[in-house]
Amino acid sequence: MTSPILVIGATGKVGSRIVSRLEALGQPVRGASRKSSPSFDWEDQSTWAATLAGAETAFVAFVPDLAAKGAPEAIRKFTEIAKETGLKRLVLLSGRGEHNAQASEAIVQASGLDYTIVRASWFNQNFSEGVLLGSLLEGYVALPAHDRKEPFIDVDDIADVATAALIDERHNGQLYEVTGPRLLSFADAVAEINAASGLSAQYSHISLEEFHAALLPEVGAPTADFLHDLCAEVFDGRNESIGNGVQRALGREQRDFGDFVKRIAATGVWSAQA
Ligand SMILES: NC(=O)c1ccc[n+]([C@@H]2O[C@H](COP(=O)([O-])OP(=O)(O)OC[C@H]3O[C@@H](n4cnc5c(N)ncnc54)[C@H](OP(=O)(O)O)[C@@H]3O)[C@@H](O)[C@H]2O)c1
Repeated sequence: MTSPILVIGATGKVGSRIVSRLEALGQPVRGASRKSSPSFDWEDQSTWAATLAGAETAFVAFVPDLAAKGAPEAIRKFTEIAKETGLKRLVLLSGRGEHNAQASEAIVQASGLDYTIVRASWFNQNFSEGVLLGSLLEGYVALPAHDRKEPFIDVDDIADVATAALIDERHNGQLYEVTGPRLLSFADAVAEINAASGLSAQYSHISLEEFHAALLPEVGAPTADFLHDLCAEVFDGRNESIGNGVQRALGREQRDFGDFVKRIAATGVWSAQA
């Protein structure tokens, strides 16, 4: 019997795509989140061993974010419990230029588990499924990002790389920095979305203080504080470069933001309030 591949964050943007790919390949897969049975909750360590039991390979998307305070400690504890329950191999989704994410990667790299790190830039799908969709539909994207450029990546590329890493041991020990093929400012990204969808959203730079104040009533202090600190950290130009992780892992070019925009515009996600 082949043990199932465990996907933690299985209902999320990346995890759901990995589950679909593994199922299409006929791989046994077990998805985990707070809604799975058994339930897995990053905030309750007592749920971790039951979810890990019987799994030799796992994909991990840490929530709220690998850049968050406390992430390295959680990942350290998780790797300890995972080794006790018999996990052999871990594919970790990480973020670029983030102190706590890189500390978490180092913990996985030193854990004694086989590993692959998939270190991703900002997701295209933040505009279509994630945190930026609501305001985009209301006509604005406001971030403390100045005119910094980001090589937005398609989550389908991340899922392709992670799936390859889960099923092929040749990816052991690799750190794949996965990004899209073009550097775009948030204003550029919004302009491309507008052109394809008929929206007329505007990007505006706001200060970190304005950003935090706008978030506070929506998401509460811990998340507002975390997002403030994340934006203060990453929007200093450090991520204005293109990675080659997709090419190294898959031997092909990345999906372009323009193709993502055309695909999503055709679904009507952006036309509801256009
Ligand atoms: N967005 C970006 O641009 C970006 C860039 C680089 C890296 N990342 C990384 O991507 C990861 C997030 O992946 P994603 O965007 O695919 O996730 P997502 O779409 O935000 O979905 C979150 C997933 O985690 C589960 N979840 C939520 N709270 C949980 C908890 N307390 N315990 C256990 N599971 C929980 C959710 O399911 P339930 O609600 O059923 O629990 C869902 O499956 C983060 O680690 C972040 O660092 C994001």
